[in-house]
Amino acid sequence: MNAPTVVDSVTALRAHIREWRQAGLKVAMVPTMGALHDGHISLVRIALERAERCVVSIFVNPAQFAPTEDLDKYPRQLAHDLDRLQDAGAHLAFTPGVSEMYPAGFATKISVGGPSRGLETDFRPSFFDGVATVVAKLFLQAAPDCAVFGEKDYQQLCVVRQLSRDLDLPVEIVGAPTVRDIHGLAMSSRNAYLGATELEIARKLNVILRRTAAALSAGTDEAGGTEDAAKALVSAGFQKVDYVAARASVTLGPWQRGRDGRLLAAAWLGTTRLIDNVEIPVA
Ligand code: PAF
Repeated sequence: MNAPTVVDSVTALRAHIREWRQAGLKVAMVPTMGALHDGHISLVRIALERAERCVVSIFVNPAQFAPTEDLDKYPRQLAHDLDRLQDAGAHLAFTPGVSEMYPAGFATKISVGGPSRGLETDFRPSFFDGVATVVAKLFLQAAPDCAVFGEKDYQQLCVVRQLSRDLDLPVEIVGAPTVRDIHGLAMSSRNAYLGATELEIARKLNVILRRTAAALSAGTDEAGGTEDAAKALVSAGFQKVDYVAARASVTLGPWQRGRDGRLLAAAWLGTTRLIDNVEIPVA
């Protein structure tokens, strides 16, 4: 495969995309913060099934990190990322600097309601404003036909769908299944922070979630089931559980047994915060 072309300005990005459009080619986008792993590569593959050209953005977005969070230590490994994109067949990598995305005087914020309420927002109040703002910018910069987001960040996927619908952004949002290791641990750039013992514990997260989802589906009381799951996570070695919650799949409003649902969780292993989610089977 050819190496992807790398551009770091909006002008150059638009010039490439304009050429593709003039040639009648469909364009898919995969927004990322880099530190690419198999989960991201699966998004690129899905993008290439839907469009002739794939642009991947790599931008560690400061607007979605709180001052206390891991912006500085977030893994940055551009050479490795470009190798992975070459293997996957991506055509263009958009790698803007902070001043390209947020030039001096930048003063706009997009705030999505609906699915952004609760869950992550209870613990990271500005997170989805940061995500929505940068995703809207990326969509307006690249004007892709579709964009692929992983279900691993399930609430983010729901928020981006809402954003796109509410602002009439002409971008089809495609959700992609979570890629997991052989133990079921969801691929995440933050897994790189985990030592061997922590990895063993991290692998219990998906097991506990799947067990709880099955129990909820079979009739276990929602409050009791999710509380038991939080206790099981602590017994497994997680230091703190931010939430384990059952929600309606699309709106992320209250879950009703017999309807499509999702069980979502966030928990801490040392200084690393992991999130995951699974479908609640409809009994
Ligand atoms: O999921 C991510 O990597 C980020 O939140 C995204 C969507 C690229 C926005 O910065």
